Amino acid sequence: MCWSRSHATNFWAMSQTLSRGPVSGTAVKAGSRRRKPFLLDLYGTAVGKKYVMAITGIMGIGFVVGHMVGNLKVYLGVVEENGELVYDIDHYAHFLRELLMPILPYGYALWILRIGLIAAIVLHLHAAYSLTVLNRKARPVRYQSARDYQVASFASRSMRWTGILVVLFIAWHLADLTWGWLNPDYVYGEVYRNIDASLSRVPVAILYIAANIALGIHLFHGMWSLFQSMGWNNPRFNKWRRSIATGLATVVVVGNVSFPIMTLAGVIEYDETAVTHSAYVEADVVETETP
Ligand code: HEM
Repeated sequence: MCWSRSHATNFWAMSQTLSRGPVSGTAVKAGSRRRKPFLLDLYGTAVGKKYVMAITGIMGIGFVVGHMVGNLKVYLGVVEENGELVYDIDHYAHFLRELLMPILPYGYALWILRIGLIAAIVLHLHAAYSLTVLNRKARPVRYQSARDYQVASFASRSMRWTGILVVLFIAWHLADLTWGWLNPDYVYGEVYRNIDASLSRVPVAILYIAANIALGIHLFHGMWSLFQSMGWNNPRFNKWRRSIATGLATVVVVGNVSFPIMTLAGVIEYDETAVTHSAYVEADVVETETP
């Protein structure tokens, strides 16, 4: 190609980019002048998907840490509330449903948080899937160096498998402790009793321990790569990156694994004679909170 033709082509391409300014080549469909909204266009790129993975991952980490810390209330046992003896964790679960009352009706604030969490999980899964598809298209040929291949594939394979295990665990966990379908002794609102009833079954305790170890591996690799995706990977911070990823993953795993172990050891043991107000059932709420 002669000099003037190739430069003319380059200038034409640059002027198109400058006048339209899309993030990806997907912004304008062939034969149409309609633009995609900026965020959707950004999500069409690998960088956009990595941002989505990182931001939804941070939301997930926030939930997992908050949930573990909240569950530590199981160790506070019975406390006195309005003259009644109640399990502190039952009271806490009730408090979560009363969040922002009376600005919002009973349970609404919790549902808003749940919807945010569900959206984050769906986006996290979609971004993970479409990044895998993009990577396969971009690298149909394996890494040439066996060492690079092993490192890259261990991290990405472990993320995929631990991610799938965590999603399966969440489905099982909701059916066990939120809806009670898998827990014959489940009683709505009696969180302490339900935890004891569920985790004192040895196979279930083992399942919780295994799932939380998978979660720990996922959190460690996820936190490590989210720093990279957000561009926080200056070599000076790498020591901090490793410490934060190791520290948070360890705290979550140790906290969560303690619940099945302490239930099997008899430290967490439901005693119905220890309480005077055993459950915050829906009927209670209707009776006490409607004028
Ligand atoms: C041994 C560790 C764990 C224990 C003892 C535990 C306990 C519980 C309990 C008792 C509930 C029902 C709370 C209620 O009805 O108010 C619950 C709900 C839930 N748990 Fe866990 N959990 C553990 C680990 C996890 C992990 C690792 C995850 C996520 C990766 C998780 C995700 C959830 C979700 C999404 C809900 C539903 C929350 C809601 O609907 O408000 N849990 N958990």
